[in-house]
Amino acid sequence: MIVAIDGPAASGKSSVAKEVARRLNFTYIDSGAMFRALTFWALDQALDKEEELLPLLESLTIKSLDGGIELNGRELYHELRIKKVDESVSYYSAMASVREKLKEVQRQEAKEANVIMDGRDIGSCVFPEAEVKIFLTASVEERAKRRFLQRSNKMSYEEILEDIRRRDAYDTTREIAPLVMARDALLLDTSSLSLEETIDKVEEIIKNVS
Ligand code: CDP
Ligand code: CDP
Repeated sequence: MIVAIDGPAASGKSSVAKEVARRLNFTYIDSGAMFRALTFWALDQALDKEEELLPLLESLTIKSLDGGIELNGRELYHELRIKKVDESVSYYSAMASVREKLKEVQRQEAKEANVIMDGRDIGSCVFPEAEVKIFLTASVEERAKRRFLQRSNKMSYEEILEDIRRRDAYDTTREIAPLVMARDALLLDTSSLSLEETIDKVEEIIKNVS
């Protein structure tokens, strides 16, 4: 079974997906981490334009790790969440060749029996055939507050709010696979739900289908 959880930044996708996967013994795959790893790699090599990335994408190897990504044999963890990556990830994610490459990796990694994958276009584009599709959201202020508490010290609440607003706008308006709720997805607004309540709801939705 494939469960797709999509939604805007800091809506709770990964925390919820991870815990539900643990409870139900599913494999959790964080597609956002793949986009972040590719962004870190592109910035590290000063690759700016799609034409510069294109010839290198085919041989690029990407593998999910627990809490990180292995890219061309290098393990990336905290590097995925640095400010520079936050700032550029939506730029690289809008490139057709990048999305194509990562879609291939995502579909390959989901060949196991039961998978929960979170992202922006998992239900709408990567796995239109997913048995369960959930669109998780919350007000932008609530999401910025959550991310601020999660990351503590590094960025101010205002900086985080601005980053989330900018990425939301970029992700929803890009031409290819924009952030959009799949027609057959269930909308779950978690603005007034605790993490525990959200996890319980998602677990219940999946159990009702399986
Ligand atoms: O955790 P947060 O929601 O802040 O971000 P993420 O899920 O790690 O995703 C980082 C960025 O990757 C997003 O802002 C999107 O630009 C991109 N992304 C995407 O385009 N498609 C996906 N399936 C997942 C992430
Ligand atoms: O993956 P995504 O960017 O959508 O969000 P996340 O990193 O899983 O969640 C951001 C923060 O919000 C985490 O610290 C969660 O524990 C928290 N959260 C919450 O406080 N209440 C919820 N209902 C859902 C998430």
